[in-house]
Order: sequence, then C-alpha cells, then structure tokens
Amino acid sequence: MSEILIEQVGQVLHLTLNRPEKKNAISQAMYATLASNLNSAAGDFGIRSVVISGNGKAFTAGNDIMDFMNEETTLDSPVFHFLKAIHDFPKPLIAAVQGNAVGIGTTMLMHCDLVFAAPDTIFSMPFVTLGLVPEAGSSLLFPRLVGHAKASEIFLTGRNFGGDEALEMRLINSVEDKPVEKALAIAEMIAQQPPNAVLNTKALLKSGSHIAVENVMLAEGEMFRIALQSDETQGAFMKFMTSRKKD
Ligand code: COA
Repeated sequence: MSEILIEQVGQVLHLTLNRPEKKNAISQAMYATLASNLNSAAGDFGIRSVVISGNGKAFTAGNDIMDFMNEETTLDSPVFHFLKAIHDFPKPLIAAVQGNAVGIGTTMLMHCDLVFAAPDTIFSMPFVTLGLVPEAGSSLLFPRLVGHAKASEIFLTGRNFGGDEALEMRLINSVEDKPVEKALAIAEMIAQQPPNAVLNTKALLKSGSHIAVENVMLAEGEMFRIALQSDETQGAFMKFMTSRKKD
C-alpha cells in the first residue's frame, strides 16, 4: 500500500499520509510524492483545490527521525521541495488533522488556506526541545499569527497545545468531529467558485509576505541543517529511538 494515498474526487485532489504504523512520520520518499503531486495539481485545470489529511490516529509525527539521523538534509532535499511546493501552491490547500500533529505536522498548516482539526488534536513544534530551530517559515508565520510573546512561549518551551488553543491562535478554522468530511465539503464548495477569482484571491492574500517567507525558509533551512548534526539533536533522536526499542 502506498504511503501517500492519492484520490481525485470531482475537482478536488485528496492526498492522505498513509503510514499509520509510524504515526504517519514523513519520509523523504513521502515528501517527494507530495511535492510532485502538488506541482502537477498546480498546473492541472481539472483540479481546483487540494485536501491533505492523515490516516489513522495521528495526522503526522513529523519528519521521519531515522531519515534525520541517516540522510543529509540540504536545500535540495525532498522536504524542501515539499515546502516550496506548499508555499508556492496557487490553489486552495485545506488540511484536516487529528491526534498528533508534530513539527512539520503543525508548521505546514501555516501554509494551508483552511484547517479543520478533530477535538483530540495535539499540536506541537518541539524544535528547541530537540536542539533544532523552527522551520517551514514558521519563525515568521507563527509570530505574525499569534504575536511575539505567544510564539516565544510555544517555541522556547516546546509545549503542546490543543484544538481550542489552536482556534484562539487562529491557526485553524474550527474544531470538527469529522475534519476530513468537513475539509472535503469546503474544498468542493470552493471548487464550484469561478476558478480565476479563487486563484487571484489566494495570490492577493499571500502577496504581502510571499518573498519574505521564502527568505526566512532559506535561513531556517541553513540553521536547521547545522543543528541536525549537533550533539544536542543527535542525542535527542537517539534517546527517542532507544526508548521505542525498549517498549
Ligand atoms: N520518525 C520515525 N518514526 C516515528 C516517528 C518519527 N517522527 N514518530 C513515531 N515513530 C514510530 C515509533 O518509533 C514507533 O515505531 P515502532 O512501533 O516500530 O517502535 C511508532 O511510530 C509509534 O510511535 P509511538 O511513539 O509508539 O506512538 P505514541 O502514540 O506513543 O506517541 C508521538 C506518538 C507522535 C507523540 C511520538 O511517537 C513522538 O513523539 N514521535 C516523535 C515526534 C518528533 O519528534 N518528530 C520530529 C519533529 S521535528
């Protein structure tokens, strides 16, 4: 079974992270598949909006830690192709999340146009706790959303937060018992709108910060790459993998 399920429902493309036994941790191959599908959808007149969701109990446990330990992450890695693809994606991108949304599982939501979360969603960006730095443009996008004080609290303590707090932060549109159904229904409504007006409106909404976010993503990427090789980070990953082996 593929680790990314790709389904087209009418004019809506639905991409599902499908590695539930690893809490949908995203591997390099999964990033590459997501990026290529988003890039094709961008130029496909038959697709008007895209929904991203995750199969099973978690949306995603974030980047695959084994990949972090074994693969060198550069600005040409699949994760950056994925980040560029979501940042540049011209059509509405809608996320449906549940359970754990770790690391990129939360930061990618800042690139989505609408987000629906199940009541059990636990958002977390434990970059500092892992010896890393924020990524995916979140060091600009998150404080812009919630203010410097709140962003500092979340990033520097690495603490989790739930759906109600995410709603207060304006990271999500609503808490929904069935977020995937809600996302697909809204994606279908948007798909019925005049397509050029949708594209132009999204472009206008993002125009104020598009280049700034791109520049921040490059700076974050470089600091993240260096941090990945640090003892702090390698030690944190080793601790996680060892604790799982003992269970
Ligand atoms: N990369 C690779 N494998 C991961 C993973 C990740 N990011 N997150 C979870 N897994 C694997 C576990 O190793 C375990 O595999 P195993 O059954 O072969 O031992 C399986 O997924 C289930 O994970 P487990 O930790 O037992 O589930 P849980 O429900 O107790 O906890 C999380 C869920 C998400 C809280 C926990 O898995 C976690 O903290 N993961 C790491 C998140 C992270 O730090 N990501 C990087 C962010 S930059």
